[in-house]
Amino acid sequence: MDFQLKTLSTAQAANEKTDALIVLFAESGSTESLSKSIRSDALAALMEDARKAGDLPAKAGKLLALYRPAGVTSPRVLLASTGDGSANAVRTAVVAAVQAAKVQAPKRLTIVFAQEATASAVRAAVLAAADASYVYTTTKPKADARSIRQLVLGVPDAKALSSAFAEASATVAGIELAKEWGNRPGNHSTPTLLAGAAQELGRLPRIQCEVLGPKEVTKLGMGSFAAVAQGSSEPLRFIVLRYQGAAKSAAPVVLVGKGITFDTGGVSLKPAAEMDEMKFDMCGAASVLGVFRTLAELKPEINVVGLIPSCENMNDGKALKPGDVVTSLSGQTIEVLNTDAEGRLILCDALSYAERFAPAAVIDIATLTGACVIALGGVRSGLFSSDDSLAAALSAAGEQSQDPCWRLPLDDEYGEGLKSNFADVANIAGRAGGAITAAKFLQRFTSAFPWAHLDIAGTAWKSGAAKGSTGRPVGLLVSYLLARAASAGAPAEAAPRKAARKARATT
Ligand code: BES
Ligand code: MN
Ligand code: ZN
Repeated sequence: MDFQLKTLSTAQAANEKTDALIVLFAESGSTESLSKSIRSDALAALMEDARKAGDLPAKAGKLLALYRPAGVTSPRVLLASTGDGSANAVRTAVVAAVQAAKVQAPKRLTIVFAQEATASAVRAAVLAAADASYVYTTTKPKADARSIRQLVLGVPDAKALSSAFAEASATVAGIELAKEWGNRPGNHSTPTLLAGAAQELGRLPRIQCEVLGPKEVTKLGMGSFAAVAQGSSEPLRFIVLRYQGAAKSAAPVVLVGKGITFDTGGVSLKPAAEMDEMKFDMCGAASVLGVFRTLAELKPEINVVGLIPSCENMNDGKALKPGDVVTSLSGQTIEVLNTDAEGRLILCDALSYAERFAPAAVIDIATLTGACVIALGGVRSGLFSSDDSLAAALSAAGEQSQDPCWRLPLDDEYGEGLKSNFADVANIAGRAGGAITAAKFLQRFTSAFPWAHLDIAGTAWKSGAAKGSTGRPVGLLVSYLLARAASAGAPAEAAPRKAARKARATT
């Protein structure tokens, strides 16, 4: 889809050639002052009349649909309330309006801000419009016929918002790549195909990609990862992506994404109901691919490494069995009490591998536990970290990007259930606190660096009628990395030095 930012007053928007026009306006304040200057035009008059007549409540997401209103070129107009006009409310309004507009399958859609357009509101509008208009077509090509071809975002001053818009569009590209790979069925997204997608990314500026196969992984000593893969006839892949945006000497942030392209549970087989959704078990990996896609476009000054252990969790004569003991890359032996707790078995070896990059921070992203879905539902991802400042930075990035997470504890007592009589550690504890005990297992492999874990089991995809990947947490991760890149250039220190650096930057 072609997405563009344009300077448009409401008067100009009324003359836009478009199939449908969405007009965003807040309940008061900014609208009042804006409407003084635009009162004379048709759209402004419509908004005022609708409000006065009580036909459009001020609550964010409320809509009033008009057909061929006088003085407006677009045949369809949706007046959309944005409540207090905040970024969150803009998101709600844009999702509701685009979903309503989609019914008529418009080819060209225009969204105009008839209210203040802050950078965060514009970002929210771009992400929400992209999200609501996204169509998956890879194994359903006919769906493309209903897709929106062009989306114009009209704001009072396009120039002032161009960098916010560029950041948001690049984030959309990353989110859509993550959605694409998440949504693909398991037979269209094998470890080999996923590695192919990573290699494609390796052709973009500043990105390199290396892919290891079963022999290399076994030789490295990743006995835990290799054990999960051994029940499948699809060969495993270990993907190493590098984005270099800063000096070679700058310590990278390492992102580790769980890439189980299908999780049957293995010998500890899952129940049949909804098992199809375990094609989404590589959404952590997909989010890492998505982040690299965005990085290539925005080129921030930071180094990032992406590690993706990818395989299927299947069930055959060679499959891993409950009670088997495997040796991880760290040297720790692991008793596999449940083959369905496979995510942690592939992640632990990737986490040990991360040590070789002497990372500034390591963040793993995984659809790790059903328990996290019970704890936090589909609203916030679970955040676990042994480092308070990393946790705070990720929490803030989540709020800023409207891709929120919530920190859960890592007290050592939670790790006690992982004790084993036959190995250094077991791969499961009891049912209680399952998201936390999984994180405690991972933590054993992270002593060499600041570490955080995002459990995205509840947030990476939606079930039911809207079944599909959300592309989360690409927004959160991009926001975190951009903030980190910005502060690496200017660490939080005394103001004079910052000013000096600014002066240098402008010469
Ligand atoms: N991929 C699943 C986690 C999952 C389950 C995500 C349902 C979303 C919805 C993971 O590999 C898994 O099976 N975890 C087990 C762990 C248990 C055996 C300790 C779980 O959560 O049931
Ligand atoms: Mn599993
Ligand atoms: Zn899994």
